[in-house]
Amino acid sequence: MEKLWSGRFQAQSEEWVNGFGASIPFDYQLAHQDIAGSIAHVTMLATCGIIAHEEKDQIIAGLQTIEQQIEQGQFAFSLAHEDIHLNIEKALHDQIGPVAGKLHTARSRNDQVATDMHLYLKQQVNLILEKLVNLQKVLVAKANEHVETLMPGYTHLQHAQPISFAHHLLAYYNMLSRDEARLLESIKRIDISPLGCAALAGTTFPIDRQQTADLLGFSAIYDNSLDGVSDRDFIIEFLSNSSLIMMHLSRLCEELILWSSFEFQFIEMADQYATGSSIMPQKKNPDYAELIRGKTGRVYGNLFGLLTVLKGTPLTYNKDLQEDKEGMFDAVKTVSVSLDVMAGMIETMVVKVETMERSTEKDFSNATELADYLANQGIPFREAHEIVGKLVYNCIQKGIFLQEVSLSDYQAISPTINADIYEVLASRTAMNRRNSYGGTGTQQVKEAIQRAQSALEK
Ligand code: ARG
Repeated sequence: MEKLWSGRFQAQSEEWVNGFGASIPFDYQLAHQDIAGSIAHVTMLATCGIIAHEEKDQIIAGLQTIEQQIEQGQFAFSLAHEDIHLNIEKALHDQIGPVAGKLHTARSRNDQVATDMHLYLKQQVNLILEKLVNLQKVLVAKANEHVETLMPGYTHLQHAQPISFAHHLLAYYNMLSRDEARLLESIKRIDISPLGCAALAGTTFPIDRQQTADLLGFSAIYDNSLDGVSDRDFIIEFLSNSSLIMMHLSRLCEELILWSSFEFQFIEMADQYATGSSIMPQKKNPDYAELIRGKTGRVYGNLFGLLTVLKGTPLTYNKDLQEDKEGMFDAVKTVSVSLDVMAGMIETMVVKVETMERSTEKDFSNATELADYLANQGIPFREAHEIVGKLVYNCIQKGIFLQEVSLSDYQAISPTINADIYEVLASRTAMNRRNSYGGTGTQQVKEAIQRAQSALEK
């Protein structure tokens, strides 16, 4: 098949070599943006008197027909035409004849593809933001049901201090708020038009870059044409933001997997978000949580892939840049579906409140309470820490917990210890009393939920 750039060539590549260079197997996903960019471009060419208005109308009508064909699945994408830009341009020629050749006046595929990517990513980041906020709402709603639910708070995966399950869920809400802020901030750098930078150096035609930017809804235009065609920072930034989102989801998945194990039994995943085993009839596996954790790897891979692609490319466009696409499409798809699956898992999981609460009593997570109690009575905290540490050791030898030590044994340690110590040692008291700002105390958690709810309403 004759190529659109064949003038300078004598021989043609074999099919498999064309296949190596082609991006159409994946950049067909930019068809809609490509057509929008072309319509804006010819509209501008006509207003600037570079092409005639009738020519513009013919081209736009042809592009609209092609768009319909693509939407209805009737468009045959061809490997011989390399990429989405040439596929559409070739179809336009077939549709309206030689006037189609005027579309590419004052434009190059270099500014064209960059424009497509900016348009695509702007749309996708907005969709991802919606999914992210939805997950935040699900987390806050779940937290709202569990303000009073006790669970062991961990450090080093060892019981540390009793906390509210709501407080734990809200920590993820807060992580996602930072992700949201980063995505919103990144839109400033996505929402810039490279159209009109042409191949690299701008064009001799009297174009109006501001007009195409306005038509396409961009807030700004690239200041430097060389930068405009070769910048892929906005994609790297997206992959970086996506990596952080996936890392957060992966940490939560890790917890869901642990919590649904026989050893923890803090939650049970809903049937819809678990799978069985082909051999072991008893199994209920948290496959989807594992898969999100696993897919985090590919998003990191996409980030490192593109950083590495860019590091050695001289200005301006190099075919290396075509490698920006698959990782971006893959990250968009992975992050989007992972956010939805996570929301579904959290919404439907069964929280085993009793097991969770019981595990805050069969442990020494109230040791800090006792040390604080002694410190409040004037014993220097370090000394109190030492006393309680020894007591914990003795309890372990005897197989009892701090709340089972008799009052006389306590008074042997310090005569000022009263019967109120048992109330102090209760895990609910321990949780409730942590009312410093941002702490797990019930009052604090309720206020945190209110702050989250009002932030989410905006
Ligand atoms: N398919 C190419 C890409 O994705 C489009 C730009 C091609 N430009 C060029 N000068 N070969 O990067």
